[in-house]
Amino acid sequence: MVLIMGRKTKIIVSIGPASNDINIILSMIKAGADGIRLNFAHGTHEDKLQTIKSVRTIENKLGVKIPIIGDLQGPTIRIGEVIEPFIVKKGQEVSIKLSSSSKGEGVIPLPIKKVYESLDEGDMIVLGGGAITCQVYKVMHNEIKLLVLNDGVIKSRMTFVIKNKDVDLPALTKKDLDDITFCIKNNVDYIALSYVRKAEDIKLLRDYLEDKNAEDIWIIAKIETRSAVNNIKEIARYADAILIARGDLGMYFPLEKIPLMQKRIVEISLEEGKPSILATQLLESMVEKPIPTRAEIVDVMNAVMQGVDSLLLADETAIGKYPVESVKWLAKIICEAEEEARKRKIERGYSKDKILTGSPYDRLVAGLAFLAELINAKIVAFTRTGTTARRISKFRPFTQIYIGTPYIRRARQLMIYWGVKPFYIAESDPEKAFSSMKRILINLGEMGYGDLIVYLAGMRPKATDIARIEVIRE
Ligand code: PGA
Ligand code: MN
Repeated sequence: MVLIMGRKTKIIVSIGPASNDINIILSMIKAGADGIRLNFAHGTHEDKLQTIKSVRTIENKLGVKIPIIGDLQGPTIRIGEVIEPFIVKKGQEVSIKLSSSSKGEGVIPLPIKKVYESLDEGDMIVLGGGAITCQVYKVMHNEIKLLVLNDGVIKSRMTFVIKNKDVDLPALTKKDLDDITFCIKNNVDYIALSYVRKAEDIKLLRDYLEDKNAEDIWIIAKIETRSAVNNIKEIARYADAILIARGDLGMYFPLEKIPLMQKRIVEISLEEGKPSILATQLLESMVEKPIPTRAEIVDVMNAVMQGVDSLLLADETAIGKYPVESVKWLAKIICEAEEEARKRKIERGYSKDKILTGSPYDRLVAGLAFLAELINAKIVAFTRTGTTARRISKFRPFTQIYIGTPYIRRARQLMIYWGVKPFYIAESDPEKAFSSMKRILINLGEMGYGDLIVYLAGMRPKATDIARIEVIRE
C-alpha cells in the first residue's frame, strides 16, 4: 500500500483523448493525481469504460484507492443544427427561431420552447462558451431579433447561455439518466450534478440512486448557476461535496465577481464540513505549454490558502499536450502553498466561536485535532458513514490523518478530502479496527516507536464518541 506523504490538498484529473491511456493515467497518479473525473459532456461510454478499467487496474497494482467521478452533462442548452454555418460580424442583425434546424442564412435555430419563451428584450446571450455574444433587441411572436456584439461563426449545437437568467429545465435529462445507469453499473464513486439550482435537485438524484439501490454513490453539486450561488448554504448541506465551476460561473456572472464568489463558496463548504473542489483554468496555458504562467501559479496558491480540499484539472489533462507535467506542477505549487499555510497557521476552517456552536461530536473532534497538532500526534480514525473523517478534515490539522473504513467505495470517496489518507480495513468493531490499523501503519513505516496516536471513531453511525491517546511502545 502506498500512502501519499506530505501533501494535504488533493488533485483530481479529467480524462479525455489526451490521457485515456493506462500508462498516462499511471504516470499522472504517480505524479500526484488522487482522483479521476469522467466528463459525460464528451466521448462515449466505451471510452469511459476503458478509463474505469485502467484506473481499477492501477489501483490494484499500486494498492491505492482512486475515486472515479462521473460528471453528468446536465441540462446544457444548445442551439439546433445549422446546415450552412455562417459568419457574423459585430453590429449585424440575426434572428432566433423556435426550431431544431435552420439552413443558416442568419437564422439561429433554438429547439427548446421554454428557453425560447424566456427571452426578453435586453437579454445578453453567450454562444459557444463565450465565442459570440449577442443582445436581444426585439421579441416577436415567430422570431426574436438579436444584435451581434462580436465577430464569429455560428455553427451547429453551440452552447447557448442567457446571462443573468436561469431557465427552469428538468435537473436530469434523458442522457443524464443513461449516464447514471452506466455509472451505477460500473461502480463509479461520485456523481457530479451539473447546473444544480437548489437542494431539491440533489434530492432528486439521491432518490433516484436510492431507487436503484445505489445510494452509496456520493453526490457532488456543481455550483455554476445564479440560483446555485443564491442557495449555496442549503446545497452544501444536502450535497456530499461542492464543485466550484468557474467556467460556467463566468457565463452567468461578470468575471470580476468570480474571485470573491469562490472565496465565499469555499468558506461555506468548510462551515458545512463538506469538501470543496475548485475547477477550471487552473493551469489553462499548459494545454499548449509545458510551464504554467505566473498568474496561474498565484491563483492555485491562493486557492490552497483559502482552504479548498481538491483542485480539478480539466482541459489540461483531457485535451492538453502536457497532462503529466500539469499534475506535477499542481503538486509542486500545492506543497509550496501548504508550507506557508502551516507556518502561518492561516485558514484553519474554524474559529473558537464557531466550534462552540457545533455539535458535541464536532467539539470533541475540534479539540482533539488541535491537540494532535500541538503534541505532534498522528490521527488514526475509523469510519463507516464517513462522518468522522469529514469532521477531522474540516478542522484542517497539519498532522497525518489516517482513516480506515470497512467499505472500499468509502475509502475511495474519502480520498478527495483535505489531508485524509483513507484505507480499507476489514473490521466492523472500532477497537479491533484501531489495533489492526496500528499494525498496518507500523508495517508500512508510517509510524513507529515513540509516536503518539490520537484515535477517533463513532459508536453509532454519524457519531464521533470514541477517543483515545496512545504512545507506541514497540
Ligand atoms: P464543465 O464544468 O467542465 O462540466 O463545464 C466546469 C465549469 O463549468 O467550470
Ligand atoms: Mn460547467
